[in-house]
Amino acid sequence: MVELFIYFAANFFDMKLFTTVAELQQQLKQERGTGKRIGFVPTMGALHEGHLSLVNKATSQCDVVVVSIFVNPTQFNDLQDLERYPRVLDKDQALLETTACSYLFAPSVKEVYPEEDKRVFDFGQLDKVLEGKFRPGHFNGVAQVVSRLFSIVEPDKAFFGQKDFQQMVILKQMVRQLGLKIEIVPCPIVRQSDGLALSSRNSLLSPEYRKSAVLISKTLFEAQKRITTMSVEQLKAWVVETINADPLLEVEYFEIVDDVNLMPVLSWSENVSKVGCIAVYAGKIRLIDNISF
Ligand code: PAF
Repeated sequence: MVELFIYFAANFFDMKLFTTVAELQQQLKQERGTGKRIGFVPTMGALHEGHLSLVNKATSQCDVVVVSIFVNPTQFNDLQDLERYPRVLDKDQALLETTACSYLFAPSVKEVYPEEDKRVFDFGQLDKVLEGKFRPGHFNGVAQVVSRLFSIVEPDKAFFGQKDFQQMVILKQMVRQLGLKIEIVPCPIVRQSDGLALSSRNSLLSPEYRKSAVLISKTLFEAQKRITTMSVEQLKAWVVETINADPLLEVEYFEIVDDVNLMPVLSWSENVSKVGCIAVYAGKIRLIDNISF
């Protein structure tokens, strides 16, 4: 019995749920007043180990951690994708209770957007390439919601997964443009044991598609080994052909870019850090991944 109590005390923390901006802000004002550093992990829910790694990094660097769960309608350019997006708040809440997360913020759409958000951000070429090319308006929606959440939470640090590589680059730019004093902390991609990058969308894959999806990361890892024997163009073509050889998968794009300005890399000799970004359809489910070269 005593062991059981110790287990629960050690593994389950006291996390409070807020659904309104006013209540959350009142609580955070008190925390800030006593000099606490606030960490923030914005999410759209359907949490997995990848999200928990962000929460754990945040709790190791900050005194108080806020996780938000909000499926942001303004970043979906496909209504079906928005409707299909998994929503499992009770399960998410239970998962977060096993971490040292202090506050869960799960607002309604009206709470986040009391009025329509008409802001248009200018990120230059950063949101025109890769995801931006195929999901017009997506990053403007991400910037709308993240800037809104930042103004509610006013964190010292915000934690983002590198799986959404372009999102992280754009949000760093947004923070600079808005002159915010928030540190964006990049967190490494978390993968399943077979290599598939963790994503909330993985739960939507049927077993057949899930099995095929492993080819994405497998091909990217193999690509890393081929940079000494293939040109950038040859490697790009090889990645696309290899993945498309599986009839259940279809590559939407694979690009190798400078990891700062996201401009295409033409030769391995270019003196920039390079990242290969990919989007693949597994049936109706769109998966993304990336790898550094
Ligand atoms: O990466 C995500 O889950 C979302 O784009 C984010 C940052 C929570 C904004 O809705």
